[in-house]
Amino acid sequence: MPPAYPWRVTVPGADQPSAVRADGVGEGVGERTPPRPGGEQRGPAADRRIRTFHPRRSRTTPSAASALTRLLPAWGVDAEEPPAHLSDLFDPPRPVVLEIGSGMGEATLQMAAADPGHGIVAVDVHTPGIGALLAGAERAGLANVRVCVGDAVELMDHLAPASLVGIRAFFPDPWPKVRHHKRRLVQPAFVHRAATLLVPGGTLHLATDIPDYAERMLAVCAAEALLVNRSGGFVPRPDWRPVTGYERRGLVAGRPSVDLILERR
Ligand SMILES: C[S@@+](CC[C@H](N)C(=O)[O-])C[C@H]1O[C@@H](n2cnc3c(N)ncnc32)[C@H](O)[C@@H]1O
Repeated sequence: MPPAYPWRVTVPGADQPSAVRADGVGEGVGERTPPRPGGEQRGPAADRRIRTFHPRRSRTTPSAASALTRLLPAWGVDAEEPPAHLSDLFDPPRPVVLEIGSGMGEATLQMAAADPGHGIVAVDVHTPGIGALLAGAERAGLANVRVCVGDAVELMDHLAPASLVGIRAFFPDPWPKVRHHKRRLVQPAFVHRAATLLVPGGTLHLATDIPDYAERMLAVCAAEALLVNRSGGFVPRPDWRPVTGYERRGLVAGRPSVDLILERR
């Protein structure tokens, strides 16, 4: 049995008190991890943490709100107290891929449907997107999707070493201004942590359409001794990585994407 989701997550549109501030900060984020104005989150570890995501305003559709209310208790994972082995969330247990920043869940749904032998745990702070993902997973009858409403960096702190076969972060927030680059997800500490969580042969797969971020990702990953880049550089988008609305908008705007796949030694 998956563990119960032990806290109340505000579901916009549902009949609950709201954790959303008048300016929209904290929209839809679980009450234990509301973003704070300074950018950090609550809790001793979180107080050291730089937030890598933007507060976002967007509508929760009625189907997403309903899916959050009904499914999050069974399919949700607590970012602060997850099982150390995410494979335990599945019955039967199966190798797990962690998808960081699943957005509206378009890629998650397609990857999960195409690969039922693996579990996908999708983590995002954006509750409306997680709701859309849950609704889609229910519609498609997918048994291999679990979700976490929260900060992936925090979730990763609680996972066992060598417990994941893959970590995917497709189009992490670009933070284009130089003074915000410290907020980018892909930093040496993140890459090292990701590498420790992978089984030998497991992969860290990154994608971005921001050229200077791509170069930085390449350099940071090259400096991580636990990872090897078998291609020596970027790789063409694998056929199985779905193109999301976010990527499509970038392509239309003239921003081609690159993929980077690193293997755990
Ligand atoms: C630019 S969107 C891309 C979404 C999706 N991967 C796609 O390709 O369409 C980046 C997503 O990452 C999420 N995100 C950024 N930092 C995060 C973090 N530390 N933990 C969880 N989600 C995060 C944001 O909330 C946002 O939904």
